Amino acid sequence: MTLCRLQVTDFRCLQSVAIDLDPRFTLISGANASGKTSLLEAIYVLGRGRSFRTRRLEHLIRLGRERFVVFGEVDAFERRVSLGVEGSSGGIRAKLGGDRVKSLAELAPLLPVQIIDPEIHRLIEEGPSRRRRFLDWGVFHVEPRFVDDWQRFQQALKQRNAGLKARQPRGVTGAWDGDLVRYGEALSLARARYVESLRAAASGTTHRMLGMNLELSYRQGWAQSGSFAEALAQSWGQDQESGATQVGPHRAELVIRLNDMGVKDRISRGQQKLLAAALLMAQVKLFPLDSPVRPSLLLDDPAAELDDMRLTGLIEEVSSQSVQLIVTTLHPEFSQFGAPGLQYRIESGEVRDG
Ligand SMILES: Nc1ncnc2c1ncn2[C@@H]1O[C@H](COP(=O)(O)OP(=O)(O)OP(=O)(O)O)[C@@H](O)[C@H]1O
Ligand SMILES: [Mg+2]
Repeated sequence: MTLCRLQVTDFRCLQSVAIDLDPRFTLISGANASGKTSLLEAIYVLGRGRSFRTRRLEHLIRLGRERFVVFGEVDAFERRVSLGVEGSSGGIRAKLGGDRVKSLAELAPLLPVQIIDPEIHRLIEEGPSRRRRFLDWGVFHVEPRFVDDWQRFQQALKQRNAGLKARQPRGVTGAWDGDLVRYGEALSLARARYVESLRAAASGTTHRMLGMNLELSYRQGWAQSGSFAEALAQSWGQDQESGATQVGPHRAELVIRLNDMGVKDRISRGQQKLLAAALLMAQVKLFPLDSPVRPSLLLDDPAAELDDMRLTGLIEEVSSQSVQLIVTTLHPEFSQFGAPGLQYRIESGEVRDG
């Protein structure tokens, strides 16, 4: 099951684009500012409900317009399933098979989408929330009940924080602690299990690409030695003072080390990109093999980012995976991934064959 058709309306510079996608490899070439990244961004928004470039929805809407629409068809054996997102000042709304659905999370299982773009080093360089999102996407696709635990935890956290902010007594605010602990521990355990598999899946690639040993660990967001319930009880004073819950999986961190040293300010930008690529590829590798859905891997101008030797390493990794590749390039003669099943040229936001 892969994305086989895409229709984009008023998204960034793309006024109206409709293309078929190859189940294995689609290549999109175009000059700078032609709309290549925008096209990948539209696919990403369809699978994730958010952009990888901005948090501001209004930036995605074509200038002068009020809404964008991205519509996709996933081929599901005998039939095609359609999924869509519409973004406007009222927010982003999802549709599945023509009907409006409550949560964007309902589209995500049908279109697992991952991107390797010029900004991937941000996974290493920025704060923990980006790494938590990275982890959560992975866990979501290997443990189906994770999304439920995650949503219930977020709900309890929101209510508890509202109580703290309003300076309500402990008896009232503490009413959320049961749910917070139950779902918080469940999601924390799921993340910790996932980090173990991720380490196993990423260490070979990291060693090949960087010649360094990778260590990954999960810091759960409260003292490793005690339970979440104990940590919550201990932090009550601080929670009250700050008006927010100070401990829990919303404070967790994926700790990444190479050759026993931290990676944030210690390795080069190029190394950060390679490391992030290795981690993203490991997520694709961990995608359940028995799933009828195959992940779509978007590569935004990979030739510009990595030198030839490293690019070869990445290509070997990618081609050994059963993924749908959608690649952009400045040069139509780009041939590192072999012959594309479908190829398009994009010019000023308009797409044509070849
Ligand atoms: N909301 C918007 N409405 C209209 N145009 C937009 C909007 N947001 C961005 N653009 C424009 O879309 C154009 C294409 O941007 P995009 O990032 O997709 O180009 P690209 O082909 O990836 O270029 P590069 O090769 O430089 O990475 C840019 O000129 C940009 O200014
Ligand atoms: Mg671009």
